[in-house]
Parts: sequence; structure tokens; C-alpha cells
Amino acid sequence: MKHFISVTDATQDEFQQLLKLTEELKYKRKNKIPFKPMDGKTLGMIFTKSSTRTRVSFEVGTVELGGYPLFLSSADIQLGRGETIYDTANVLSRFVDGIMIRTYAHQDVLDLAEYGQIPIINGLTDYMHPCQAMADLFTVYEHKGKLEGLKMSYIGDGNNVTHSLLHACAMAGMDMAVATPVGYECASEIVDEAKEIAKKTGSKITITNDPIEAISGSDAVYTDTWVSMGQEAEKAERIKIFKPYQIDKDLFSHAKEDAIFMHCLPAYRGLEVTEDVIDSPSSVIFDEAENRLHAQKAIMTMLMGD
Ligand code: CP
Ligand code: NVA
Repeated sequence: MKHFISVTDATQDEFQQLLKLTEELKYKRKNKIPFKPMDGKTLGMIFTKSSTRTRVSFEVGTVELGGYPLFLSSADIQLGRGETIYDTANVLSRFVDGIMIRTYAHQDVLDLAEYGQIPIINGLTDYMHPCQAMADLFTVYEHKGKLEGLKMSYIGDGNNVTHSLLHACAMAGMDMAVATPVGYECASEIVDEAKEIAKKTGSKITITNDPIEAISGSDAVYTDTWVSMGQEAEKAERIKIFKPYQIDKDLFSHAKEDAIFMHCLPAYRGLEVTEDVIDSPSSVIFDEAENRLHAQKAIMTMLMGD
């Protein structure tokens, strides 16, 4: 694995190794066992979009691994004033040992990887959010003790988070059912990739517009905001269209009785999910947030560690 831009950058073996390492690193942190594979290494962190979890977890994670995190807001670096990705990739490769980037166009991240000479980690694009998916699957594993054979459902917008979850569930051998409104489905090539992986792992991928069909019998129920970063102008229209996809107590009751509720956060209570679900004992949202730290430390260790 040279980069982590998509969950599928990991082979099946590497994917399993990442989950295992995530567990190990969580254990080490809890028991104050030092582990510094990034000693003397610097992670450049480029952000052209806002972030709470991604920024803090990468920054803290890099320090915990013995490295130095360098926050680079696009408002401050020349990339934000039109310097090319080509020049940015080549220049940063002379200074830092790896780059985490959060931005709009997925192609920019692929270009950074092509032109630079260091590992690139995708901290979210309009198309994918692979670090989130790794933390999420690890969270399911912690709560259910396994992944293979379980069912996740995702109700809402077929977006970046959904795409990476489709990849990750297929790789983990988990069934995944996605319900979106008509016109807001996942990208067809991502669904095809997930189905291709699923053939090998035995998982089942279901794409529908019916939230009850998707949620029925699930072990984990996932949703995300209806209005992703960059879609603010569509907010009013989206709120109307997505209303039937709100996860409330009634819809949630179609999942298994011991189902967990998941959300990458930030969440908008009263829109994609009601308070009585997201703030209920079934909700594991803060475990997911914490697990970003452990999962990303595993990713950095594999890509940048000694
Ligand atoms: N889930 C997630 O990526 O959160 P942030 O936008 O706060 O980084
Ligand atoms: N789909 C959301 C995820 C935020 C972490 C967005 O792209 O804004």
C-alpha cells in the first residue's frame, strides 16, 4: 500500500492488518505503552474544507506516533491562490514525509499522489472518505465482535461517506444495503466495484430507494448529513426531498433489536436523525469519532512508519 486514497488501495490482507493494528494501537494508548514509528517524521495536513474530527485526530495521532503534524490551511498556502498541484506535490515532497489532504475534487488527491514522492492519505473528498470507513468498521467490530455476516444499512444521501462504506463493507464480508431518494444514489462505478469485491468475500450489496427495505434486519444503521460541504445552496430543496429518509424511532425499529446507530458526524438533529435515536443507548457515534484516531494511526504506521 503506497497511499490511502480509497479503501481499495489496501489489499484484502492489508485491510485486515489495518483493523488488527487499529485494535493494537487502541490497546497501547489505553495502557500507556509508547509506540513511536513516526519518530522524526512530519505529516503535512492540507485542508480546503472545515474539519473538527479529521484535523484533531490526525494531529493528535501524529504526535502520539512520535511525529510532527503541520496544519496547512488552503487559506494560507499558495495552493489556495492558484499554485498547481504539480508544484505543490513536488515542493512538499522535499519537506514532509507524508500528506493528509481534505479537499473537494478527488482528482486533486490522485494528482498529488501521482506527482509527489510521498504517501498521500485522503482525509475526505467529494467522492470518498476512506479513513472514516476504517474507523466505522472497527467500531462495528468492537460492538459486535465480528464483521463477516453482519448487515449494515445506510439511509440518506449516496455521498462520499457511503462510497467508502460500500468498499469497506464489501471487503469485510458484511452485507450493505443503501437507500437513497431517486437521483441521490451512489456513483454506479462504486456500486460495481463493491459488488465485484463482494463476489469474493460473500457479502451482499443492495441498492434501493426504499428505506424500510434497506434497514430491515440490519445490525448497524448509518446515516450522514443531507447537505455535504459544498452543497449549501441546495439545502432547502434537499431537506424536502430527504424527509422520508429521516432515521426516527419508527424507522429504526425495523432494524434488529440490538442494532447500533452510526453517524460520521457532524450531525444535524431533527434532519437526518431524530434526537431519540442519535442520543439513545443504541448510538455509538462517539466511539466512531474516537476510533478515527486509532484507525488513522494504523494507516500512518503502515504508510509512514519505520
Ligand atoms: N467525520 C468527519 O470527518 O468529521 P470532520 O468533518 O469534523 O473532520
Ligand atoms: N458527507 C459529509 C461528511 C462530513 C464528514 C461532507 O462531505 O460534508
